[in-house]
Amino acid sequence: MRPGLSATHIVGASLIASHLASALSPCTEIDDSYDFVIVGGGQAGLVLGGRLSEDKNHTVLVLESGGNGDEYRKRIDTPAYSYFDSLWTTPLNWDFYTVAQPNADDREINWPRGKVLGGLHKCHILKNKQQKINRYIGSSAINGLYMTRPGEDEVNAWKEMLGDMDGADNWSWDSFYAALKKSETFTPPTDDVVDEAGIVWNASHHGTDGPIHTTYPDYTFPEVGDWLTSLQSMGIDTSANMYGGENLGADVSTSCINPSNWTRSYSRSGYLDPLPDRGNYDVLANAHVTRLVFDNATSSDKKTASAVEYTTDSGSTKMTVKVKKEVILAGGTIGSPAVLLYSGVGPKDVLSEAGVGLVSELPGVGQHLQDHLSATVKWSTNVDTAGSIFYDGDKDKNNPKFLTYIDSAVAYVDAKTIYGSEVDEYKSKFLASIDQYVPKTTYDDGVVAGYKAICNTTASKIFNSPTGQIEILFMNSDANGDIGITAALQHPLSHGRIYINSSNPMDFPVIDPNYFDNPADSEILLAGIKLARQVGETSPMSKSLTNETSPGSIVQSDDDWVAWLRKEASTEFHPSSSCAMLPEEQGGVVDANLRVYGLANVRVADASIIPISLSTHLMSSTYGVAEQASDIIRQYYNLPSEPEPAFSGSSSTASSSAATAKKSGTAKSNGSPAGNGGAALSLVWISLVLVSVHAVVGFGLYI
Ligand SMILES: *[C@@H]1O[C@H](CO)[C@@H](O)[C@H](O)[C@H]1NC(C)=O
Ligand SMILES: *[C@@H]1O[C@H](CO)[C@@H](O)[C@H](O)[C@H]1NC(C)=O
Ligand SMILES: *[C@@H]1O[C@H](CO)[C@@H](O)[C@H](O)[C@H]1NC(C)=O
Ligand SMILES: *[C@@H]1O[C@H](CO)[C@@H](O)[C@H](O)[C@H]1NC(C)=O
Ligand SMILES: *[C@@H]1O[C@H](CO)[C@@H](O)[C@H](O)[C@H]1NC(C)=O
Ligand SMILES: *[C@@H]1O[C@H](CO)[C@@H](O)[C@H](O)[C@H]1NC(C)=O
Ligand SMILES: *[C@@H]1O[C@H](CO)[C@@H](O)[C@H](O)[C@H]1NC(C)=O
Ligand SMILES: *[C@@H]1O[C@H](CO)[C@@H](O)[C@H](O)[C@H]1NC(C)=O
Repeated sequence: MRPGLSATHIVGASLIASHLASALSPCTEIDDSYDFVIVGGGQAGLVLGGRLSEDKNHTVLVLESGGNGDEYRKRIDTPAYSYFDSLWTTPLNWDFYTVAQPNADDREINWPRGKVLGGLHKCHILKNKQQKINRYIGSSAINGLYMTRPGEDEVNAWKEMLGDMDGADNWSWDSFYAALKKSETFTPPTDDVVDEAGIVWNASHHGTDGPIHTTYPDYTFPEVGDWLTSLQSMGIDTSANMYGGENLGADVSTSCINPSNWTRSYSRSGYLDPLPDRGNYDVLANAHVTRLVFDNATSSDKKTASAVEYTTDSGSTKMTVKVKKEVILAGGTIGSPAVLLYSGVGPKDVLSEAGVGLVSELPGVGQHLQDHLSATVKWSTNVDTAGSIFYDGDKDKNNPKFLTYIDSAVAYVDAKTIYGSEVDEYKSKFLASIDQYVPKTTYDDGVVAGYKAICNTTASKIFNSPTGQIEILFMNSDANGDIGITAALQHPLSHGRIYINSSNPMDFPVIDPNYFDNPADSEILLAGIKLARQVGETSPMSKSLTNETSPGSIVQSDDDWVAWLRKEASTEFHPSSSCAMLPEEQGGVVDANLRVYGLANVRVADASIIPISLSTHLMSSTYGVAEQASDIIRQYYNLPSEPEPAFSGSSSTASSSAATAKKSGTAKSNGSPAGNGGAALSLVWISLVLVSVHAVVGFGLYI
């Protein structure tokens, strides 16, 4: 047994191993209509479903294209399996690819995304290279568990871009920070791990009774501590305050792990599984939304979505469910613009080329796409790594304490640290570059104006603020036992787009992130990747690293590095901004209340609305957006907030749920229009009845 692996954690292990129970009971059918139909039961969708259904006056339906993931439950739940037992080969991954990227050696780059209730995990094999890489995909059920947060300056810059728009204050740092905390229950690290990894934290920045648990793995490596020491000697200080708006410096970040049994805490386990049967909330898996149906009879110039069309059999049969109040899109940065486009809401030229009839012209749909580009320097080592323990068949590979380990040591490095006294020169140069790299679009006014506004904000307000421009990450879960240090660009000045190329909603949308279009991006990432190598060459980290295996000593000059980046850089899995919250005249898609321009009753509430790429993994921010959205929508319908949280922290879940149930029972007897009468089970798996083969294969994950 390796030092640090004590027997006390076996309890947690058997919990993981024996877990089968699920709060989701199959049931037979959904209703004809709901007040709110939420499109997408991933990370944001289950937050919205849980929060909106707290109010018994409202009926809520979530439609999710993927399944419930139960047959992969152990792989979803066990933190280390995010890297070691990748779900990328399973149907839980959409497995998107970008179109060829001209400034990245014409590569089509893999964009895995979660296709399961709660969203995906991480880790995949690049098809074209047969090389195993370990990553941190978005989508809360399948990602790498990082719960970093954005910085105060960049969130306030987002708010300032909204001007005096109604509701803009909801996107100030103070308001957003409260939403981030609301979703969280934080547990400090265990003593052994604190000692070995040098973890520092500030509990006052964390939530205490939200649905999502954050903490640190119960197992670590001395090299995690070395990470902080090496960075310290490079002038990048360890910070205990990266969760309170100063996302700058080095730390061991929190991961979304529930320390009561060391399982992944994600939107399904936090916002869905603990719910009592509310009688007003249905979740339908394996239901792929094909389009919104608009009511053409309304005289208003704003179109009203009267129904949502979906399919449970890959498009052969289409069904509809009526919408009494609103549709809320929570399909993520790829899915939400795609649903709008297939529904006829978007840029005229894209729709006419795809053969989709125009319902409402909205040039910004799919535009302003921003993503974090990353690359990794790797070394062979003279120490045990998580990868060597797992892949070399070490006897500890199945030790439950070991399996709580997930990489989480990071650093966010600002431009001042990167460029020193030259920071203002770089700022001017990047500002001057903006006009040359405007998106190629027929909409010069809107979309181009938005591009310029976002880049201007990025360059003039964020670039020289104490906000990370580069994230660097420690990785020791590599398949061949190497240690990797990744650098990732956080505020790209190259913007891409999502569009469609056919009128068939079963076709994948086209993803063009337009990587490295503006050379400022390769210049900043170049500085970042050199920092990554420098960390590996700095003591004490350097003592564990024996030989740089990638890119190796052949890459030395800046030109070598840039050529290598074009060949190797890939997504950090944090795409955002394709339904940007901006003024309509800047190619915005939603206003500050998340309403889609030109539509009467459709909102978007997921990472696609964040107008500026944020310096963070997107999970916490996506919870923040969904929590804010839930509040905004409930307030709009004049619904007072619950005086007590409907969700609760670790120990009190049952009692708090009971209290909520009792209270809503009272509300219902007072004349609820929801009218479900408690007869129907709240969670529905239509595949069991509609397509009988689904029952055999387990909720139809394989279609
Ligand atoms: C872990 O504990 C939480 C409650 O704290 C529970 O909801 C979840 O089902 C448990 N997971 C497993 C795999 O036992
Ligand atoms: C959003 O803004 C409105 C108007 O200022 C305010 O009443 C409401 O409390 C805010 N909501 C949140 C979640 O902060
Ligand atoms: C923790 O955060 C609070 C609130 O931001 C701050 O006042 C305090 O100084 C911080 N503590 C440390 C040790 O940095
Ligand atoms: C409304 O018009 C659009 C565009 O012509 C069409 O695609 C859609 O089916 C119509 N909706 C209804 C309910 O007739
Ligand atoms: C760019 O942003 C700065 C600072 O916010 C502002 O003063 C300037 O007018 C903006 N320029 C353009 C072209 O929008
Ligand atoms: C769009 O569809 C056409 C016709 O099927 C195809 O030739 C083309 O490659 C597609 N373009 C993209 C970017 O997918
Ligand atoms: C170091 O790594 C490089 C690049 O992979 C490799 O060519 C070389 O043989 C390695 N050197 C040693 C001593 O292992
Ligand atoms: C439900 O609706 C009733 C009647 O309109 C209203 O009195 C009550 O406050 C509503 N309940 C909530 C929780 O908003």
